[in-house]
Amino acid sequence: MVSYKELGLVNTKDLFKKAIEGKYAIPAFNFNNMEQLQAIIQACVDSKSPVILQVSSGARKYANQTLLRYMAQGAVEYAKELGLNIPIVLHLDHGDSFELCKNCIDSGFSSVMIDGSHLPYEENVALTRKVVEYAHAHDVTVEGELGVLAGVEDEVSHEHHTYTQPEEVEDFVKRTGVDSLAISIGTSHGANKFTPAQCTKDANGILVPPPLRFDILEEIEKRIPGFPIVLHGASSVPQEYVATINKYGGSLKDSIGIPEDQLRKAAVSAVCKVNIDSDGRLAMTAAIREVFYTKPGEFDARKYLGPARDELKKLYQHKTESVLGSAGKA
Ligand code: G3H
Ligand code: 13P
Ligand code: ZN
Repeated sequence: MVSYKELGLVNTKDLFKKAIEGKYAIPAFNFNNMEQLQAIIQACVDSKSPVILQVSSGARKYANQTLLRYMAQGAVEYAKELGLNIPIVLHLDHGDSFELCKNCIDSGFSSVMIDGSHLPYEENVALTRKVVEYAHAHDVTVEGELGVLAGVEDEVSHEHHTYTQPEEVEDFVKRTGVDSLAISIGTSHGANKFTPAQCTKDANGILVPPPLRFDILEEIEKRIPGFPIVLHGASSVPQEYVATINKYGGSLKDSIGIPEDQLRKAAVSAVCKVNIDSDGRLAMTAAIREVFYTKPGEFDARKYLGPARDELKKLYQHKTESVLGSAGKA
């Protein structure tokens, strides 16, 4: 049993309180390897932002759960070495069972998500409550979810959004004791969040997706004032990355994300955690494809992972400084 406190990590409690009061959101970036982690820490130290490091079940399988935990511990020391002891949370993304959440809590995670959103309501309440009881006994914070995002998630695909029902949130939060709530208001996972047919064109011919359901968010805020809300599926899918990927041999079609102005609007509300994974995947892939295409003789991994890391750092710093408003809040 390792407590996150021994590793220099923090839970989300204080961070979310300050984020709601200060009208900004904390970035939650997924990581699976060293370069992603280096870029996240470099960007957040440079912009003086608190950060949530997210580990999915897929990341645990890919990189090894023990290694990832030690990497997060290393990230705390790395940030200090870079000059600023920023608050760092180690969070389980989309935990699907009590056992997985317990395992993470026992091995040094400071926050877990129990995603019972696909379950019937009462089962979601019971599972989430069970995780909260164990987590709170260890001062670990818990994110629950109500409503289902469209798109692909852990190989399960949902064609349509099931928006969060505001009538359920008060009861869910009270009975489960969760510390934050992920909601469904029109975001989705992955790089294909909307089809072109769902979008309109602006004066410059750029596709504009339908707005998020801020009416639902406002209704939720009325029912649980000041309660921390989480937005999953919040990548913006920068079109310059899509263009670079396709220019250098890739084939991404209909890749459309959440416009940044929508995320800025969300960040000033009770949304205090914004999940971003796909944008990092696009930044890395664009940088690596460019090296492979323009320097076909290159075979030193540092020569393509290095540029990928630099591009990731730029992306993450942009998110903290220009989208979420978390820069300067560490
Ligand atoms: O919400 C899912 C995250 O983007 C993690 O994706 O399960 O492929 O690691 P993954
Ligand atoms: P994106 O696929 O939009 O980056 O969402 C990531 C996410 O929600 C991780 O939980
Ligand atoms: Zn998610």
